[in-house]
Amino acid sequence: MRLNSGLLSLEEAYVFAEVRQRTQRFSAGRPEVKLISLGIGDVPGPLCPAVTRAMRRAVKEQGRQKSFHGYGPEQGYPFLRQQIAASLTATGAPVQPREVFINDGAKTDLGGLLDLLEPGSRVLLCDPTYPAVWDDCLIRGLEPVRLPADEGNDFLPMPPPGKPDLDAVYLCSPANPTGAVYNRAQLSAWVEYARANELLILFDAAYAPFISDPALPRSIYEIPGAHRCAIEIGSFSKLAGFTGTRCGYAILPCELIVRGYPLQTLWARRQSARTNGVSYVVQCGAAAVYSPAGRRQTAKSIARISENAALLAETLKAAGLSYWGGRHSPYLWVKCPRGLSSWAFFDFLLEYGGVVGTPGVGFGAAGEGYFRFSAFGDPAQLQIGCNRLLRAMDYLR
Ligand code: MLT
Repeated sequence: MRLNSGLLSLEEAYVFAEVRQRTQRFSAGRPEVKLISLGIGDVPGPLCPAVTRAMRRAVKEQGRQKSFHGYGPEQGYPFLRQQIAASLTATGAPVQPREVFINDGAKTDLGGLLDLLEPGSRVLLCDPTYPAVWDDCLIRGLEPVRLPADEGNDFLPMPPPGKPDLDAVYLCSPANPTGAVYNRAQLSAWVEYARANELLILFDAAYAPFISDPALPRSIYEIPGAHRCAIEIGSFSKLAGFTGTRCGYAILPCELIVRGYPLQTLWARRQSARTNGVSYVVQCGAAAVYSPAGRRQTAKSIARISENAALLAETLKAAGLSYWGGRHSPYLWVKCPRGLSSWAFFDFLLEYGGVVGTPGVGFGAAGEGYFRFSAFGDPAQLQIGCNRLLRAMDYLR
């Protein structure tokens, strides 16, 4: 048997797994310290009542002969595809239901969509970036190409000059990990660049629900021309607390045609070979997010997380740390103090604050010397975490 050399080339541990291991090691030695997690972007829960009610109803349906559902459509149930399309269209990003493909969370399709590319294709990725995409490129035999996202460009890199030797670009806005958000003009420049050079944009909109300024685009389809060059990936994870329930979607516009092939048709074919879709119960829960009650309830939890982000931002400012993000984003990107490396700052905060964050270097080489805080989490716990952070920083003065 020959092993996948791309898989063998991955960093030994995925950043969040490494954080978990180090945290567990710390807790084993210091069980009296109750750690506060400002690390992974996991939601504190619970699912909102509109969602759980819809899921309970769906479970009952599955328990009765006359309403039982077996295999569903691979691309998702029409009732959910319609809701997603209508919601995007209502906010200025025209999408048709048949362009929506339901998945079990953004991560699955961020990797899976790379199957549209021939092995050896070159994919431009911001550095730092969401590490799963980098890894997925390697696993699939694609070549990731780094695009520095740094203080010089406010962590919002623009298309590189010259004729690119590229096949695709992955963009995330609001960005994980830096919290930076592209404005309309910047995103338009990317769309123009992709169209002029016949590149595919994979646009990760998982954090779009945190954008509260209507002047900022929440979807790439708000930008003219994007339907011809971009696939968008959305998620219920951060929008409605589905990190443990798993549901998301990819949009493949009818107009997205490459070398005469509609990507939507290719993707539908690929999906029919690779998946039997997402469970009926979960899709009923996701559809309930768009009910009036679901919208109200999810808006409340997004507002809570945004308040958490504002509190974290104040804390970082009070601690004298340089940071980016935290507005229209649940992530804050911090420059490690005193020239500490990302992991040294991680160890310091664990030791002196009992606070867990995520080392920036886990998101790419350019993340070395930076650190990510996540504003997900229970507000009371986050307040304690902020107080501890401030006290810990005293040790460095
Ligand atoms: C993160 O913390 O970056 C995310 O929660 C990870 C994910 O969405 O898989």
